[in-house]
Amino acid sequence: MKVMIVGGGAREHAIASCIVDAGGELYAYMGNRNPGILRMSSDAGLGKETEIEKVRDYAVSKRIEMAFIGPEAPLNAGLVDILKEAGIAAVGPTGAAARLETSKEFMRNLMSKYDLPGAIRYGVFSDAAEAASFIEELGQVAIKPVGLTGGKGVRVSGDHFASTEEAAAYAREVIENSIGGSARVVVEELLVGEEFTLQAFCDGKTVAAMPCVQDHKRAYEGDKGPNTGGMGSYSQADGLLPFMRGEEVEEAMMIMQRTLDAMREEGCPYSGVLYGQFMLTAKGPRVIEYNVRFGDPEAMNVLPLLRTDILEIGGAIADGTLKNDLAFDRKATVCKYIVPRGYGVKSVSGALINVEGWTDGPDRRLFYAAVNEEDGRIFTTTSRSMAVVGMGDTIEEAEAVAEDCLVCISSNDIFVRHDIGKPESIQRKIEHMEKVRGGE
Ligand code: AMP
Ligand code: GLY
Repeated sequence: MKVMIVGGGAREHAIASCIVDAGGELYAYMGNRNPGILRMSSDAGLGKETEIEKVRDYAVSKRIEMAFIGPEAPLNAGLVDILKEAGIAAVGPTGAAARLETSKEFMRNLMSKYDLPGAIRYGVFSDAAEAASFIEELGQVAIKPVGLTGGKGVRVSGDHFASTEEAAAYAREVIENSIGGSARVVVEELLVGEEFTLQAFCDGKTVAAMPCVQDHKRAYEGDKGPNTGGMGSYSQADGLLPFMRGEEVEEAMMIMQRTLDAMREEGCPYSGVLYGQFMLTAKGPRVIEYNVRFGDPEAMNVLPLLRTDILEIGGAIADGTLKNDLAFDRKATVCKYIVPRGYGVKSVSGALINVEGWTDGPDRRLFYAAVNEEDGRIFTTTSRSMAVVGMGDTIEEAEAVAEDCLVCISSNDIFVRHDIGKPESIQRKIEHMEKVRGGE
């Protein structure tokens, strides 16, 4: 079967590997020359993934039968709608269903309208004075632009604001400067706990869940510094996380199921991959946001463990016959991103990265991200460069494998968060959750 991957990051490299493992003939459409994807593809279209007519024309010209779409931007632009019109089984939500991610206002309103568990107190404002008075009422808050800012427009009390006045000033700035593309701001109650990601394949009715993952958004070790797209992530062999109870992940799955039911009720059934970002609070999981795609890096934790054929999953999504019975290897994983020096503030791009003596193995994978290959040499762009994934029976073993992978990668201008998955950082998260639960 001819299968297309759209997107040129490490997440898409991981999806592409599953497609090839399942016997698919791979085609790619991407904005950069991702060396990992290029090596596996029969052909690649190079261009902006958001120019959806061009992506469709490419797919039609190559007689593509199924498409997986990695990033949110082409989904938001309606790529799935036009691929389906062209008779291609596209795994992803329609533009209308993608609003779960693209409009935080739509998502929060849906949760209130259907009284979904996991909802939180929030308000959406286009008037700065009204926003300020709601901020006073809540006290501790998260302030977010309504539209997409790549996770970087969100600021929270404690980390970014020392007072409600500072929070109100940022809310005003979001409105006045239309940060995220709209002169509106979301004000939410501050959630306290540990974050986790639950990803699931969906066919409009059924949620087929994958193991839980914890990402690390902050640029520097010890979870300090600016928010990024994600510096690395880990998962545990049993699909839970070290600070989580079994019934808590079941609750998160139930919240996602109820969300899917609500979307169907709204007349825009959701199919594709749904990414639930949750805060595990003392009262259980609460939804921070939904993304309408795999997480990056989180895709790299779960996809190398997936034993169910991804093309069969894609077919079941297209036919509406998905079952919640995916098979995964019972392994822990640790993913560490290699990023350009300065990433999160101002990246050094165009730097050479050497990858020497690398071979993928049953316990290790290397996924290329936003790099360009020129004459066999690999150069950084301003985004994340590549990621290694170690696998093992425990997180500790997987972390040691990930560190061993890094030995093959060298450059003067790269940065890695070595603390991700180390026993000390896992312990810190367990203790933090115990403290949060102390107030139960
Ligand atoms: P988002 O773009 O919604 O994923 O937010 C980016 C980051 O901001 C999240 O990963 C959280 O760390 C933090 N965040 C967002 N909303 C909240 C909230 N209501 N309470 C606490 N932290 C939040
Ligand atoms: N890891 C965060 C994201 O994919 O949105």
